[in-house]
Amino acid sequence: MAQAIAILDSGVGGLTVAKEVMRQLPQEEIVYFGDTERAPYGPRAAEEVLKFTRQIVEYLLQFRPKMIVIACNTATAIALQHIRAQVKIPVVGVIQPGSRAAIKSTKNGSIGVIGTENTIRSGAYHQALQAINPHTEVFSLACPRLVPIVERRMYRSPEAKQTVEQSLRPLLGSPIDCLILGCTHYPFLTQAIADVVGPKVAIISSADETAREISTILHHRGQLEQSGHVPVHRFFCSGTPETFQAIAQEWLGEQIRVSPVFWQMT
Ligand code: SIN
Repeated sequence: MAQAIAILDSGVGGLTVAKEVMRQLPQEEIVYFGDTERAPYGPRAAEEVLKFTRQIVEYLLQFRPKMIVIACNTATAIALQHIRAQVKIPVVGVIQPGSRAAIKSTKNGSIGVIGTENTIRSGAYHQALQAINPHTEVFSLACPRLVPIVERRMYRSPEAKQTVEQSLRPLLGSPIDCLILGCTHYPFLTQAIADVVGPKVAIISSADETAREISTILHHRGQLEQSGHVPVHRFFCSGTPETFQAIAQEWLGEQIRVSPVFWQMT
C-alpha cells in the first residue's frame, strides 16, 4: 500500500485542502481526520486545541503517513511548531501558503484576513505577511459565526448569506484588494463572501498554495507516487459520520466511506 498524506482539521474545512491535493496530485493517497465532534476550535482555549491536535496526529501516525498537513488555520496558529517538534515527518500548515498566495495577488499591499477568534488573536497571518513584505497593511477580522454554518451543512442557505454579510461588514470601506480566507471552512462560502466584498477584491484560499507546497516537499524527498497509481483515500471523523459524509461527497464530488472514531471527549 502507498504511503498516504495525512490531513487533519477540526471538521470538514480541511476537505477544501484535500480536494486541491486530489486535483494537483491525483496519484496520492489521503488519510483524513475531521474532529467534527469537537468543532469549532476557533473559540477553544489554546491548550485544548494543542491537546486535540496532538491526539489526532497520534491517531494518524498509525497509518505511517509520509507527511502531515494541518489543514486548519486555528490548529496551525496554535500547534504547528509543537507538532513539528513531535514527529519525524514533514508537517505543513496553511498559514504560510495562504500568506504567500496573498502577497502574490495584492497590487496595493492592503490585505484582509478573516478567520476564527483564535487565528486572528494569534496574529499569525499578520506576522507571516509582514515577514514576507514588512510594508503590507493587514486588516484582520474574526468571523466566529461562519464555521458552525459550514459544519451544519447550511452553506447554501439564505441564513448563510445573511451571516456572511453581517460578519464582513466591518471590512467594507477598507482599502483591501485581496482577502485571505484564513479558515479552511470558508471556501464553502466563497460565493457569499465574494458577493459581499465585490469584484475588486480577490479571494485567496490557502488550499491551492498548500497543495503546491506538499507537492514541492514530496518531490524534493523523492516521495511522490508514480503517476497512474490509483489511490485509496480513507476518511475518519469523531462522532457520527452522516453530516460529514454528506458534505464530503458534495464537496469532493465522489462517493466516500467515513469511519467514525469515538474517543473520550476530554
Ligand atoms: C475552527 O474549527 O474553528 C475552524 C478551523 C480553521 O481555523 O480552519
